[in-house]
Amino acid sequence: MKTGDLKLGFIGFGHMAQGICRAIDRAKLIPRSQISFIRRDPAKMKKSEQEFGVTSSTLPTLVEKSDLIFICVRPAQLEQVLKDLAKLKMGSQKIITIAAGVKMAYFQKHLGRIPIIRAMPNMGSSVLEGMTVLSFQQNADAVLKEEAQAIFSCMGEVIEVPEELMDISCGLSASGPGFVFRMIEAFAKAGEAHGLPYPKALKMAAQTFAGAARLVLKGGNPKDLIAQIATPNGTTEAGFKVMDESKTDQSLSSAIQAATKRSKELSHEFF
Ligand SMILES: NC(=O)c1ccc[n+]([C@@H]2O[C@H](COP(=O)([O-])OP(=O)(O)OC[C@H]3O[C@@H](n4cnc5c(N)ncnc54)[C@H](OP(=O)(O)O)[C@@H]3O)[C@@H](O)[C@H]2O)c1
Repeated sequence: MKTGDLKLGFIGFGHMAQGICRAIDRAKLIPRSQISFIRRDPAKMKKSEQEFGVTSSTLPTLVEKSDLIFICVRPAQLEQVLKDLAKLKMGSQKIITIAAGVKMAYFQKHLGRIPIIRAMPNMGSSVLEGMTVLSFQQNADAVLKEEAQAIFSCMGEVIEVPEELMDISCGLSASGPGFVFRMIEAFAKAGEAHGLPYPKALKMAAQTFAGAARLVLKGGNPKDLIAQIATPNGTTEAGFKVMDESKTDQSLSSAIQAATKRSKELSHEFF
């Protein structure tokens, strides 16, 4: 089956599911008529139908009609969804879960040995600058892998890792935008403190992050780029001295470690 022929079903249609749906639509990967969803709130269900041109459904119908089922509820809502799903007859459907910190084995505990993919998109997906980390079962079907890669490539970059590296991936790239927002805001506030109007300082900060990230994505090595920008006794070097004294690198590393630890704790809660 070609990716464009797939029928998708979303269980949960909040921020992340909507972002995925929007990207699929913009890329014209799968027609909206082949996408259905369920969510709890009837008013929001209607609104989502109107906004996205996709069909609201019931769980049994969604399962029956879908080739690929995306589970996009929050981890706390997952157990109920899996209990409801377990009551239904699953045929050749495959599952993609985006729940942070929940291992594939938890899904199999409820649903048996179904084909399942774990995907960890991040907030950048909503502006097609996402970073999605995918993890597959051993012996995962090559076609299913390709389908997942095609879908998440619509919204940015895709990297595959073994499942044991999902917690660090969550700490780095799923929580990562949050850490970067804090840094952008700190840059902007520093600009404001020295006389720049906040909106101008914010734009300078955000574009500085975007440009620096683009240089690295184009193949630049951070070490070489740092050597290029930091002339001896210059302005950047003066700033680096303070970053070294205040152990900025270590504190960023600790933030990622803390997010990774929390992801591990969550995965233990789900067993
Ligand atoms: N935010 C991120 O950056 C990020 C990154 C990676 C992964 N994730 C994962 O993405 C998942 C979704 O996050 P989100 O931010 O999109 O959450 P969200 O906006 O709260 O959306 C959750 C959706 O699940 C629906 N729902 C809840 N219980 C349900 C049930 N029993 N049956 C059907 N639908 C149900 C809700 O419906 P109603 O609104 O109608 O109640 C809502 O549409 C989470 O597991 C999170 O870990 C998030």
